[in-house]
Amino acid sequence: MSGFNLTEAQKKQITDLLAQMTVEEKVGQMHQLSPSIVGGFDVSFEELIEMVTDGRISNEEFGRIMANAERDFHEDDIRAGRVGSYLLNDPKKANELQRIAVEETRLGIPLIYGFDVIHGFRTTFPIPLAEACSWNEEVFEASAEVAAREASAHGINWTFAPMLDIARDARWGRISESAGEDPHLGSVYARAKVRGFQGKNPADRERIATTIKHFVAYGAAEAGQDYNTVSMAKSMLHNSYLPPVKAAVEEGAMTVMAAFNDYNGVPCTVNSWLLRDVLKESYGFEGFVVSDANAIRECVSHGIAEDLADASRKAVNAGMDMDMGSGTYSAHLAQQAADGEVSAEVLDEAVRRILTVKMALGLFDHPYVEEERMARYDGELDKKHRDIALDAAKRSIVLLKNDGILPIEKEQKIALLGALADDGENCLGAWNADGRGSDCVTVKAGLERAGISVTYAACCDTTSGLNRQELDGAVKDADVIIAVVGETNAMSGEASSRADITLPGHQRELLEAALATGKPVVALLMNGRPLALQWEQEHVPAILECWQLGVTHGDAAAAVLLGEYNPSGRLCATFPAMTGQCPRYYNHPNTGRPGSKSKFTSRYLDAPLEPLYPFGYGLSYANYLYSDLTVEESGESFRVSVSVANTGDRAGEETVQLYIRDVAGSIVRPVKELKAFKKVTLAPGETKQVTLTLNKTDMGFYNDDMEYCREDGSFLFYVGGNSRDCLEAERKVVFSQNV
Ligand code: NOJ
Repeated sequence: MSGFNLTEAQKKQITDLLAQMTVEEKVGQMHQLSPSIVGGFDVSFEELIEMVTDGRISNEEFGRIMANAERDFHEDDIRAGRVGSYLLNDPKKANELQRIAVEETRLGIPLIYGFDVIHGFRTTFPIPLAEACSWNEEVFEASAEVAAREASAHGINWTFAPMLDIARDARWGRISESAGEDPHLGSVYARAKVRGFQGKNPADRERIATTIKHFVAYGAAEAGQDYNTVSMAKSMLHNSYLPPVKAAVEEGAMTVMAAFNDYNGVPCTVNSWLLRDVLKESYGFEGFVVSDANAIRECVSHGIAEDLADASRKAVNAGMDMDMGSGTYSAHLAQQAADGEVSAEVLDEAVRRILTVKMALGLFDHPYVEEERMARYDGELDKKHRDIALDAAKRSIVLLKNDGILPIEKEQKIALLGALADDGENCLGAWNADGRGSDCVTVKAGLERAGISVTYAACCDTTSGLNRQELDGAVKDADVIIAVVGETNAMSGEASSRADITLPGHQRELLEAALATGKPVVALLMNGRPLALQWEQEHVPAILECWQLGVTHGDAAAAVLLGEYNPSGRLCATFPAMTGQCPRYYNHPNTGRPGSKSKFTSRYLDAPLEPLYPFGYGLSYANYLYSDLTVEESGESFRVSVSVANTGDRAGEETVQLYIRDVAGSIVRPVKELKAFKKVTLAPGETKQVTLTLNKTDMGFYNDDMEYCREDGSFLFYVGGNSRDCLEAERKVVFSQNV
């Protein structure tokens, strides 16, 4: 391990520490704790987690218990060197416990504090699925930098982000935490997030360590059901699921979290092929691997371990360096080391990795969060941070349909319907770290702040029936109806898969009733996954996908509704026409019978051939016309150029996308693969030539022996504004042997 550019002196310090540590102290470093709930609530934290997971208590209930419960921080365990890390968001407590670790333990090794800082901290940004629709690495990086600054002020050293799972199944609730379905966009996102959180030097006090999660293929959980099994060829894993992981490792991500699921029969938690051969050996990953919450213990339920001792042995020997919250290592590892079931080398390797990350984060030099920074982000939202969030939010919005209703004129009288339109809490999305509903500008507030007075009626929420009287009252004088419909925070995220991804509750009735008035209707969507909107596409004249945009939700939505911002977001995940099309993604391996009108082809009898909105799709208030595709070979790369004209009457930003298809390969190749994209701004009437470069090194694929192959033959080059509507050219490619 080169150790994240540690100095020789720092490396020696780690070696010296290892030489002095007892086995118990080593095991301590591998043990991550959260405070246990005591007092009124008589179960352990692990049990509490299980209760949320199996639905005995709701997420809201869990939140309430955590906020009110008396907590045991296990100070004695820390003092005895039995704890290496804490999952905590409490700066005062963090310093208190850190003081015990640094000043009262034998070796003074600092704790590392981890927390889920997924899309902002106090300043909540758009959910990752939304932000990825900006296709903008500056946005990805800036939001992570802000989150790191705020989280570090709360004593957090390490975020369990970015989540880099390729998510192709909209039923899976955690698609909301992902950057969508594409390995190339996902890799751009991965690199930018690592840069944003960690900066050039993660030891800077306003930076935090990242976690690549979930390693790996969690997004392929069978049938989109959370925690479900994953079976997949190694070639598919390497070509589609691993690229963002590899990119983040190359960018210097400091930790990796193993996924809950099994991969081809072996849970990732104990999968030594994944943890040792792929991650540590082949990718040269230098940081440490942490389990997901309670996952080592769950190896028993998986049926891969006979008991907890067996789970401990299997996990550590597979290369799992830190146990998140299951207590399995702390209960069994020391004895297993004494019995020779776990070698000194295995233990030392894990501890060296953990100490390396702590050292590279500067924790040995500055273990505490400075008192003066602690409360910096607890009062008013930071203005600069909020501005960055607003920029991200506007760029995340995707215009899905517009029959000319949008943008709205300021003079028009607006009826605003739907409980979500006036609901700050549900602008936050799943996994908000320190966000508050009261910080969020709702759609109603956003329109009002833009100087529009609306007639508002909730009419129905995501579960209740429609109140027609309320609706009739609100719409009677309106020129335009905006119906805010979608999902609550709790309908996406972990343990929130849905078997039916149409609009929940009675919200379609709300749209039907609005349409029955004969007035123009805009469906403004707030949701954490692609929804199946076939009916809405057929009937509603304008559909604007606003996702869950965080603190500036309503300001961003208003800017787009009123045309102050020309929508530029492009889908990072396909919208299926119907739930039954899931998993639906554009870069599907071809079949011998690609779907077509004829019966004996790959299709459903009762669903359209195509998804509703393809990957890369998004409309604008401008129109973009593509022409003159040229593909020039120049040494080891291709220069692919196209003319893009703005034929509309507004300036706008287009995302020019380059896809390729390897026409015939030794294994079946995807029908299209995104290889590059470029953002271009165009004034009305302006035309620009856009050139994208494709290196020949990126035109190959992994086979099942994990060899990277580049095979001579025909390639199709596609360029366009989404994965469906592209110009096309074919070239014969001959690769040189030595690249
Ligand atoms: C479980 C989730 O799968 C993971 O993403 C998260 O980081 C941990 N819990 C810690 O909260």
